[in-house]
Amino acid sequence: APTAIIAPSILSADFASLGEDCSRTIRQGADWLHVDIMDGHFVPNLTFGPPVVVKIRKHVERPTQSYGKGTFDCHMMISEPKKWVKEFKNAGCDLYCFHYEAATSSAAESPEGISELKTNPKELIRYIHDNEMLAGIAIKPGTPVDVLYDILDNPQEKERPDMVLVMTVEPGFGGQKFMASCLPKVEELRKRYPELNIEVDGGLGPSTIDQAADAGANVIVAGSAVFGAKDPAEVIALLREAIEK
Ligand code: DX5
Ligand code: ZN
Repeated sequence: APTAIIAPSILSADFASLGEDCSRTIRQGADWLHVDIMDGHFVPNLTFGPPVVVKIRKHVERPTQSYGKGTFDCHMMISEPKKWVKEFKNAGCDLYCFHYEAATSSAAESPEGISELKTNPKELIRYIHDNEMLAGIAIKPGTPVDVLYDILDNPQEKERPDMVLVMTVEPGFGGQKFMASCLPKVEELRKRYPELNIEVDGGLGPSTIDQAADAGANVIVAGSAVFGAKDPAEVIALLREAIEK
């Protein structure tokens, strides 16, 4: 399986000292920062947009290579994922992870009917790559994994995602209970795609990491478990060991 990547979710950081919280978690051993973008529409919560990403980018050195330390892994919990690609690229995003459900929903259509915002996952992945970011595709707990096979098996490299995010809570809030019922999707993906980057997000921490590791996840998001810890560096190391063992 690909290498372990630990991506603390800054949703659990102190927003009043966000820049410092971001640079500190990188110093404490994090590989990436997981940046949760919520629009109050795709999910019932609001976070922040490009101006905040611009500011925190100044506190975290840009990765020197794809997937490198300091990667901004932007988890786009928004109804119109295509609309924000360029803005997030310019703000400092390195990996743009959109939701399958948003890209395929008829809500992505404008009231007038056909909208240029309505797209399909393959086109959107190509568009993200054209904008020189890595592309991720996320699925909510209720979405079956097999909807992704056609996308992952695409012979067109530009239209294939660099990462799949399997949500292990309903997206919207930090600190929720881990849903082990989502792990068979991770197992299935790992069996079919030994080299795929598979990210899990929601309820991950010292008590749930082994299950996720056994299923085959290699990119681990953890918000409350890292930012709420007495010793975040220790938690980051523990998560990494569980994946690498
Ligand atoms: C939830 C977000 C997660 C969240 C995880 O919608 O996508 O990234 O911050 O928080 P924890 O690790 O506390 O479950
Ligand atoms: Zn997230």
